[in-house]
Amino acid sequence: MSLDLRNYRVESTLKSGNKVIVRAVRSEDAQRLAKYFQEMTPESRYLRFLGFRNSFTARELEYITHPNFLEHATIVATLADGRLDEEIVGEASYISAADGRNADCALSVLDGQRHQGVGALLLEHVVRLAEHWGVKQLSADVLGSNRVALEFLVRRGFRPLLVSCGIHRLFRPLSRVGGRHGAQHSPAPDASSWPELQRTEDEFSIASASV
Ligand SMILES: CC(C)(COP(=O)(O)OP(=O)(O)OC[C@H]1O[C@@H](n2cnc3c(N)ncnc32)[C@H](O)[C@@H]1OP(=O)(O)O)[C@@H](O)C(=O)NCCC(=O)NCCS
Repeated sequence: MSLDLRNYRVESTLKSGNKVIVRAVRSEDAQRLAKYFQEMTPESRYLRFLGFRNSFTARELEYITHPNFLEHATIVATLADGRLDEEIVGEASYISAADGRNADCALSVLDGQRHQGVGALLLEHVVRLAEHWGVKQLSADVLGSNRVALEFLVRRGFRPLLVSCGIHRLFRPLSRVGGRHGAQHSPAPDASSWPELQRTEDEFSIASASV
């Protein structure tokens, strides 16, 4: 039943007018993901994976491209510009804790494709998928020096939880009622009808995030 979301696919138009597809990762995406990883700058890889990485291992690619959505899932953003092969320009994933109430998420967008709303779109879809499975809280680990990502997340409802070894753990409570068992009987979220992404403006200052 958890395979309902394998065909998850939503096309969106960015503010620039460019069209982007956000969809569940597929088994045949291994090469595209490997290429994406190579196209990331070393700095972006470091920020995304919190350490030096040169490539995904074959085992990691196997894991990433075979999500069960309940415990782990990866979604990708690809350009919908008519080219023969889709190019992945962003990815986001979540891994659920054993109790199903908490999930860690992380995301990245290729440097040349940033500031168009791809990251925000990916995050919003991760939130919806996690809510669908009854996750009550999303967390994200971000290097303290990564002000861009910290501000990006705080502006989208994440709050600082703790800081350890220079890594900030932020969390965002989720609201929708869902559940591992209930979700099996409810339809997959109809992402095409979701409202346009709302940018969350609030008074929270990132300056206080290091508390
Ligand atoms: C964090 C990250 C994913 C954001 O991706 P992104 O695609 O640039 O994100 P968005 O475009 O949705 O939003 C970025 C900013 O651009 C702004 N923006 C969106 N569309 C825009 C446009 N057309 N023109 C100018 N700015 C725009 C957004 O308002 C946002 O600003 P804000 O966060 O101050 O509100 C990206 O910087 C990244 O990959 N970083 C490296 C990996 C990383 O740090 N991951 C975090 C670990 S979890």
